[in-house]
This record gives sequence, C-alpha cells and structure tokens, in this order.
Amino acid sequence: MVQFVDVDAMRRWISHEGVEPLLEDLVAYLEDDYRRWEQFDKTPRVPAHSEHGVIELMPTADAELYGFKYVNGHPINPSRGLQTVTAFGVLSDVATGYPLLLTEMSLLTALRTAAVSAMAARRLARPDARVHALIGTGSQSEFQALAMRRLLGLNEVRAWDVDPAALDKFVRNATALGFTVHRATSGADAVDGADVVTTCTADKVNATVLTDAMVQPGMHLNAIGGDSPGKTELEPAILRRSEVFVEYHPQTLVEGEIQSVGADFPTVDLWRVIDGQRPGRTSDDQVTLFDSVGFAINDFSALRFLRDRVSGTPYATEIDLIAEPTDPKDLFSLVSLAPAVSHR
Ligand SMILES: NC(=O)c1ccc[n+]([C@@H]2O[C@H](COP(=O)([O-])OP(=O)(O)OC[C@H]3O[C@@H](n4cnc5c(N)ncnc54)[C@H](O)[C@@H]3O)[C@@H](O)[C@H]2O)c1
Repeated sequence: MVQFVDVDAMRRWISHEGVEPLLEDLVAYLEDDYRRWEQFDKTPRVPAHSEHGVIELMPTADAELYGFKYVNGHPINPSRGLQTVTAFGVLSDVATGYPLLLTEMSLLTALRTAAVSAMAARRLARPDARVHALIGTGSQSEFQALAMRRLLGLNEVRAWDVDPAALDKFVRNATALGFTVHRATSGADAVDGADVVTTCTADKVNATVLTDAMVQPGMHLNAIGGDSPGKTELEPAILRRSEVFVEYHPQTLVEGEIQSVGADFPTVDLWRVIDGQRPGRTSDDQVTLFDSVGFAINDFSALRFLRDRVSGTPYATEIDLIAEPTDPKDLFSLVSLAPAVSHR
C-alpha cells in the first residue's frame, strides 16, 4: 500500500500545524539535504514547453529514497480561472523501486519555495534587515512573507502587483496575519527602503520587474519568478553588480536570471554556503541575489519532511496503487481470476 496525502489532508495538516512552524522545520530538512548535496543523483528538470506554458518532471535520489515532482507553469491560467502552478509528487524506496508516498504538491511547493527563500536569505540578507518588498502577490506571496518573518524577523512588507485584485487579496491576508503592510503604487515604490526584495511574478517573457536603478547597496534580492527559458524578471545590469547564488548551475543557466549573462558568469552554489564552504554575504553594502528556479532536491526534502510528519497519522491514507499478485511472477493471475465481464 502507498501512503496518500490529498489536498484536503494537506490543507488540514498545514492549518493544524501552522504555516510558520512548518516553514521553520522544513528549513531544517532542506539544510540537512543541502549539506549532503554530493550524495544526490542530480539532473536538470525535464520540461515540455508549449505556447501555453510548461510541464516539468523533477527527479532526484539518494541511496535510499527516490523522489519526483510533476509541476506546471502556465502564467495564462489565472485568466481562465486556473492556477499558474500546480503539482503532485512521489517518494519511492530505492531498494525495491516501490512508491512509498503519493501526495498533492501545490501547497507543499509553496511551502518549500518559501522555505528555500528564507534558508538562502538567512545567509545572504544583512543581519539588520527589517523590511521585505514583494513584487507579485499571487499564490506564492503569503508563504514567502511568512517564511521571511519566521526565519528573519521581517514583519514589514511592501507589496506591489500589476493586478489590483491580487494586491488587495495580499493586503487583506497579510494584514490579518499581523504584518505591517504598505500597499505600494509601483514596483519602485515597493522596493523603496526595502532590505530584502522578493520578485515572484508570472509572465512568459523577459520582463523587467526590477530595474538596476531600483536596487540599492546592501539589498538581498530573492528572484523566484524567472524560472524558464525566456522568462526572467531582472534587468541584466543588476546581475553584474551582484553576488549571484544558484541551486544547481546547469539548470539555472537555462531557466534562471543568469540565462541573460551566459555560462561564464560567476555564481556561487547555495549548497556550499549552507555547508560552510563558501561565505554568504561578505559586506553590508554588497548586493546579493538568489537566482531561484526550484530544484528537485528542494522537493525531495519537502517529500521526506512530509513523510516523516504524516506517516501513521490520519492525514495519510493508504491507496492501492501497486498491483501485488501473490506470486510476483504471476501478474496475469489478477486478471485471469477476475470474473469475466460481457462487453455486450
Ligand atoms: N523558484 C521557484 O522555486 C518557484 C516555485 C514556485 C513558483 N515559481 C514561479 O513564481 C512565479 C509566481 O508564482 P505564483 O504561483 O505566485 O503565480 P501567480 O500567477 O499566482 O502570481 C503571479 C503574480 O504576478 C503578477 N505579475 C505579473 N507580472 C507582473 C509585473 N510585471 N509586476 C508586478 N506583478 C506582476 C500577476 O498579476 C500575479 O498576481 C511564477 O513565475 C512561478 O513559475 C518559482
């Protein structure tokens, strides 16, 4: 039997545990996995691009567990009442190849993306950072704000979105969550005075959500929306005066902000910072940039975390996903012994 976490169970689990405590605990799982980065089987995710968006498979494995996520990115979707990003995932036993867990991952992706942002920002933002600017207030935004508050203490949020309804929604939610919220009138207004800037917009173009002129010395930039070929958020000049941190360079080079500056552009592996091999921020006036695209190990950590937390609880049910004949060589027994059904 395979453990199964559906949307309702995920929703109830997160609501019961609380988003912020879960984010903090998930960061600990991520850090464990980032510290043993070299033990993982790594490959850039496998995308299927179309004029509508992208569908991607994100696999990775260590010696014991294999995980993958199925995820889409369709910026056009909200205009037809659908979400930009949805996902589900699987965790399997490497020794037998049998799946152990099948789970919804739209909510889990929002948690893991926010946890990764905060894990990076803890090393890359100035220690005295207080103000968080958020550009793009869609599905990921509240999770991003909560992670920055829980892990870095950023309770002041300056928010901007080109869609007034999405901005209203964020202001309403963030105010109810106890944030001090500034409803910005533009991207420039949002980042004015901010210490950490998160861009989480969705568009299928090389957009300029953040211009070089908007970026001040000492800022940490957390660019999560540019995550596909031809889909970026920052003016390239920003990269040239930033220290840029990446998850997995071969994938980020194709999907991230660095696609605009090329393969020779110097970057730092985030895992080396987490492991203490490389410094994070090195001065108060440095501009740091986490060029986040979302890598399979992030999802592996989230799947591992979920399994450890919900196994044996009512949040995980069992589904009969794998055919198991009594004689493992007699798969046919499952159909030959079934009663015949007339097709007429
Ligand atoms: N790096 C990662 O690991 C990761 C994980 C999840 C999602 N993402 C990406 O993050 C982005 C946001 O995801 P989401 O689920 O919140 O999408 P969403 O569609 O729910 O929200 C995106 C918001 O961006 C706004 N927007 C678009 N262009 C803008 C602009 N120029 N200025 C200001 N606002 C603008 C839209 O109006 C919308 O409200 C997507 O591009 C998605 O692919 C990245």
